[in-house]
Amino acid sequence: MNKLKSTLLSLVAAAAVAGCSDPGSDREMDRFIDGLMKKMTVEEKIGQMNLIAIDGSVMTGPVTESATGEKIVSGEVGALLNVMVPEKIRDLQELVVTKSRLGIPLLFGMDVIHGYNTVFPMPIGLSATWNMASVEEVARISAVEATAQGVNWTFSPMVDLSYDARWGRVAEGAGEDPYLASEIARAYVRGYQGDLSRNDNLLACVKHFALYGAPEAGRDYNLVDMGRMRMYNEYFLPYKAAVEEGAATVMSAFNEVEGVPAAANKWLLDDVLRKQWGFDGFVVSDWDAVREITVHGIGDLKEVSVRALDAGLDMDMASQGFAKTALESLGEGRITEKQIDRACRRVLEAKYKLGLFADPYKYNDLKRLETDILTPEHRAAARRIAAESFVLLKNRENTLPLARKGVVAVVGPFADNRPNQLGSWAFGGDIEAPTTVLEGLREATKGRAEIVYAMGCNITDDPEYERILASWGRALARDKRSDAELMREALAAARRADVVVAVMGEAAEMSGEGASRTELGMPAVQQRLLGELKKLGKPIVLVLFSGRPMTLVEENDKYDAILYAWFPGTEGGPAVADVLFGDAEPGGRLTMSFPRSVGQVPIHYNGRQTGRPAPADGSITRYVSGYVDESHLPLYPFGYGLTYTTFEYGDVILGSAEMSPGGTVEASVEVTNTGSRSGTEVVQLYLRDPVASVTRPLKELKGFEKIRLEPGETKTVTFTIDSGMLEYYDNSLERVLEPGAFDVMIGPNSAETKSATFTLLKQ
Ligand code: NOJ
Repeated sequence: MNKLKSTLLSLVAAAAVAGCSDPGSDREMDRFIDGLMKKMTVEEKIGQMNLIAIDGSVMTGPVTESATGEKIVSGEVGALLNVMVPEKIRDLQELVVTKSRLGIPLLFGMDVIHGYNTVFPMPIGLSATWNMASVEEVARISAVEATAQGVNWTFSPMVDLSYDARWGRVAEGAGEDPYLASEIARAYVRGYQGDLSRNDNLLACVKHFALYGAPEAGRDYNLVDMGRMRMYNEYFLPYKAAVEEGAATVMSAFNEVEGVPAAANKWLLDDVLRKQWGFDGFVVSDWDAVREITVHGIGDLKEVSVRALDAGLDMDMASQGFAKTALESLGEGRITEKQIDRACRRVLEAKYKLGLFADPYKYNDLKRLETDILTPEHRAAARRIAAESFVLLKNRENTLPLARKGVVAVVGPFADNRPNQLGSWAFGGDIEAPTTVLEGLREATKGRAEIVYAMGCNITDDPEYERILASWGRALARDKRSDAELMREALAAARRADVVVAVMGEAAEMSGEGASRTELGMPAVQQRLLGELKKLGKPIVLVLFSGRPMTLVEENDKYDAILYAWFPGTEGGPAVADVLFGDAEPGGRLTMSFPRSVGQVPIHYNGRQTGRPAPADGSITRYVSGYVDESHLPLYPFGYGLTYTTFEYGDVILGSAEMSPGGTVEASVEVTNTGSRSGTEVVQLYLRDPVASVTRPLKELKGFEKIRLEPGETKTVTFTIDSGMLEYYDNSLERVLEPGAFDVMIGPNSAETKSATFTLLKQ
């Protein structure tokens, strides 16, 4: 180690030994970073603002001989992404620490989205658990597994609200509700970051700031155009919650906001994020997004990099806008060294908070590979949480749970399909690790029921679509036999069976980034197979894999039970078996409204009242805000999900008919389990401000509680409503609290609530 570096590294240790009140304190950090930055050249500072992917030779030979290695040694790189081999991460860290002039450790970023090696349900499924402890646990296990492999920064959570199921990335989000998504954002941040002094926590990155979930027509990366009142009251809230919870980094979105792409949007990154919300971490662009600002038509790479730096972007992912142009811009006086210092400092602060200066090899304990990955505990959590994410959409005459007897025909292209069980963004997930639904069902019925299996059809029979999906690299498990042959086999299996379990849906590649769809139904070939199975007159249970709400009107009419399993992850198969046989409950409730048809999209429960509302019962009539060919209501509303028992709600009882500003009112409801099995209910609280100075949502989720009830048991659930919950941003963006009546609605989902009203008094 050279002299300079040893001085720097010893600074931290010295501070601790000297008994400086708190070596981890901001003052200590400032002192350390001041000292370090004094020694840095401008080029080295710009290097900290550069996040790149490794070149191929890093993987094929010694890192020292790669182009990436050269850049690292010359101090041109602050962080790397997508290095998936732990030994390489260690080598690269060692390279920077021992061979670069100042030895500033690297950040290693990765899209750890729903688990790393142990893959959990897709985030939209995880959100359906309505269980913050489960979300936190998933983030925590993800952190343990990723850090065991050297990753110290995850590009998660994605908390972009979306009302549009065409947009493929709804799979990665937390649904349509600002309050629920905010709670989820907080839980992710807690789980990932926890106590950063440990070596099994990592930096979170809340994304994509902002409004990425509202692209026109559901087309990924498309124009977003939205009024600020909506931004502040809805779309901004989950990002803000993550920031309040201490998210160390924020990723800017690809899209523009009010005409300026997010990565260069000063209002967004400086005024809102830093000045209004007090964010003090660093902002990284999305992949290549700085260069893409040139494609948006805002200027050349130098110009857009100047604007991005001025806006408050601190690190460029992949396009190297700062690396290629900042020095020249500085020479031309278009940016200042102060601006560079500001960005560099924020990156260094994150590294300091991670403890990388004290121990750059903190995340390179290769022994952890043997103990911390895909452990039985992690797999057990994946199984439990998957079952908790499944939403029972339909259950005619208690078709489910199934008895373990007779013959069960298992059909469909997802029944025995490992890769598709993981969903998108499962880089660390071993394709061989998942236990499939077929395997899960076999294991669960051993010696008690007979399982007969036939794939029945491929995921799609559209050759063009298949070509596109296959080109993205994920095995489609295509069976080369003809459709007719596959169907014959499935029908023969079903004829022998007492019940048919059809595991169907959309491929992992049909949702996720860059995978918007114009149709939300099941692929035609699967529908045809179902139609033929139906003719046999056997009960049919549909288990659906998907990353988004699908349109299921016909399926809802025709089939006996529908269990929505999202992409359930490594232990999805056993979890499906647990739920089908009643060893676990289907625990999920929808976090996005399920449209009846694509034409209803975007659709969400918390819209605002129009002057011509459509009838509340969904009936069709003209000259109202609806359709002449379809109800305006969703097929399944936000918050919906059946259980294996039934619950009855009493009336909403208010503790007081009035609230003073700053005060509270308690709202209670008695919930009784009226069925014959124990069960868990998600009791949901919604509020409405029916008369205000601007139009307000028809309903807004403001609280929820998960309760477990034995048959016949009653519990009283009490929510405390405080006046803060009644505040909102008016059209001058003032946060206001307006006196008058407020409706309190409590129920099992957004469409079936009981209500009471109280009055907020004047000051
Ligand atoms: C692009 C995606 O939009 C973003 O979510 C992801 O983190 C980056 N690529 C890095 O992979």
